[in-house]
Amino acid sequence: MQTVVSGIRPTGNLHLGNYFGAVKNFLRMQDEYNCYFFIADYHSLTTHPTPENLHNNVRQVLAEYLACGLDPEKSTIYVQSDVPAIAEMSLLMSMNAYLGELERTTSFKDKARKQPENVNAGLLTYPVLMACDILIHKADKVPVGKDQEQNLEMTRKFAGRFNHMYKQDYFKIPQSFNYGEALVKIPGLDGSGKMGKSEGNGIYLADEPKPLQKKVMRAVTDSGPTEPNSPVSEPIQNLFTLMDVVSTSDTLQFFQEKYASCEIRYGDLKKQLAEDIIKFTTPIRERIEDIKADSDYLNKVVKMGREKAQASAEKTVKELREIIGIKRF
Ligand code: TRP
Repeated sequence: MQTVVSGIRPTGNLHLGNYFGAVKNFLRMQDEYNCYFFIADYHSLTTHPTPENLHNNVRQVLAEYLACGLDPEKSTIYVQSDVPAIAEMSLLMSMNAYLGELERTTSFKDKARKQPENVNAGLLTYPVLMACDILIHKADKVPVGKDQEQNLEMTRKFAGRFNHMYKQDYFKIPQSFNYGEALVKIPGLDGSGKMGKSEGNGIYLADEPKPLQKKVMRAVTDSGPTEPNSPVSEPIQNLFTLMDVVSTSDTLQFFQEKYASCEIRYGDLKKQLAEDIIKFTTPIRERIEDIKADSDYLNKVVKMGREKAQASAEKTVKELREIIGIKRF
């Protein structure tokens, strides 16, 4: 079975875009691959969270992924900082990552621009740590979005460079991966663009029904079709796209026909959409609450993941030390 590795940054809550763009893929991969999914808490230190926020976010994200169906019996689900071998490997690998190439990565330049008061070395070496996350389990495939392509490219570069430097075919060269057809881009409610945490246009899995409904009812629309079969504007298409993932196909078709015949009432469309989103998120939201309240269960999951991830990681670091020439006396 091939190995899949993916890291999840513990920032904020999961929204529908995360669910349909990423989590759903993970659920399917669990049955077909040897999966490692981890909460990337070391990575999140680059933005200096407070200790309370850091821990609460790790807990929240973990509960949310479990509530969505990540299964600790099928996959190895762990917290990155529970596996110190990753930090050791990151130190080893940083010796052949060059300043110039690290400075040139777009994610580094973006972050340096966004937080000029905190351009720390961790931001610079982020791609090294990420490469280690992946290479430490000898991953074949890494499910990532477009924004992570460059980091993955760096991973391949570091792996190849290590192999070349030590004249061994040690690391596999991992590939990026998604089930093409399942890659739906979920739009936000503000008329254009995709749903995102920073855009403030998100519908969160943990949203309570009332505020969720309010958000949907406030979604941007247009002035309505004036003649039959008019083209659909972006804000309206976005509502249809959301409806496509949460509602029945009959419902979607009903509103599309109303649109085509100029009889659509956007208020009704939004009301239906809100109802269907709530129907979809309610069981997940309830599971998130149950899981968060069950510390015993969370502890058990984290311990199981830690043991499996440590075994795999420590084996790799032991081999690396030998290849590099760090020998025990
Ligand atoms: N950099 C990724 C992100 O921002 C998170 C991440 C960390 C990751 N390590 C990883 C993703 C390893 C895939 C594999 O979303």
